[in-house]
Amino acid sequence: MSATRHILRAGARCLRSDSIIASSSPAASLPSSPFPSRARFSTTSSARNVPTAGISQSIPPTSTTTSGQNPEAQTQAQPNRPDHETHFGFQTVTEAEKTQRVAEVFSNVAETYDRMNDFMSFGWHRVWKDHYVSSLNPGSHPPFSTPPAQHILDIAGGTGDIAFRHLAHAHTHNGNPNVRVTISDINPSMLAVGRQRSIAQLPASQQAALSFLEANAEDLRSAGVADNSVDLYTVAFGIRNFSNIPLALSEAFRVLKPGGVLAVLEFSKVDRFPLFNAVYKRWSFGAIPLIGQLVAGDRDSYQYLVESIEKFPSQREFRDMIVAAGFEVGGQGWEDLTGGVAAIHKGMKPVRA
Ligand SMILES: C[S@@+](CC[C@H](N)C(=O)[O-])C[C@H]1O[C@@H](n2cnc3c(N)ncnc32)[C@H](O)[C@@H]1O
Repeated sequence: MSATRHILRAGARCLRSDSIIASSSPAASLPSSPFPSRARFSTTSSARNVPTAGISQSIPPTSTTTSGQNPEAQTQAQPNRPDHETHFGFQTVTEAEKTQRVAEVFSNVAETYDRMNDFMSFGWHRVWKDHYVSSLNPGSHPPFSTPPAQHILDIAGGTGDIAFRHLAHAHTHNGNPNVRVTISDINPSMLAVGRQRSIAQLPASQQAALSFLEANAEDLRSAGVADNSVDLYTVAFGIRNFSNIPLALSEAFRVLKPGGVLAVLEFSKVDRFPLFNAVYKRWSFGAIPLIGQLVAGDRDSYQYLVESIEKFPSQREFRDMIVAAGFEVGGQGWEDLTGGVAAIHKGMKPVRA
């Protein structure tokens, strides 16, 4: 069987699955988070002191014991290592420092984030997000069959753009009200905006199927996300901000059910088109920090955003990281959008993991 067909079959299997959360999680807990979290979303949290530092310092290091996982993916099983270097844009910093500075960036931009996305991408982010969610087809089921329960975890879900699309696609397009979505993010300010938007924009039935979870993607265990509990794990424009991407991928592997799907939408490389690449780079570095200054009064945060895009691995390198975490990929493992300005990577947790 080709790898692509394998993924499609397994995806269909995961959509049929009934048991969507660990038995320790109360099924009737919606709309609050289905996870027995120690780091729950709280509107009263201070934007400055809640992100990761607080979570990771108060919780013992996670041990990653999922069987079947590539051992390479288990070598970095601790978030925010103070003695390990990574990048914050073009600067070299420790993982702990990056997490703190990323938290500051998104606390600063939370209120203007959605408006800025439209300015910076000429609205293209909406097209990419629509395509991303359609390609995952959440809530799909054969005609005349009982709509299966499905739990989607939208990591780094921020202000809810992806989660809202999952719900609309599953409940309205696919007529499946049994799909629940958890928006998880490390930053309470982004989650607060997401919650306000959900109340303003979503019908009551979709609000009831939505929950919020404040958590570091590199340590979902501390937030109570059980092994093998998620059908679909999505992360859009979030993963390049993580301090330890292999660790986040190994957490994705742990929490997904066998046959469950990881789907990443992220800015990527336009190297195949040198002329377009030159124009794109000029636009990114010349205009985006300036727009950030004019629209959001914050040049530095947007300078970081363009630098973080530049530092993110190529499509091929990132595909290899997904494979190293234990996932199976179909075909080349990714789909370029707009010549590679963004790309969608997908992987499936093997059915016999
Ligand atoms: C560019 S926003 C993307 C938001 C949303 N997914 C979208 O597509 O509009 C990136 C998000 O990643 C979150 N983030 C950064 N590091 C994180 C981490 N370690 N764990 C979870 N979320 C993180 C930020 O707080 C921010 O909300």
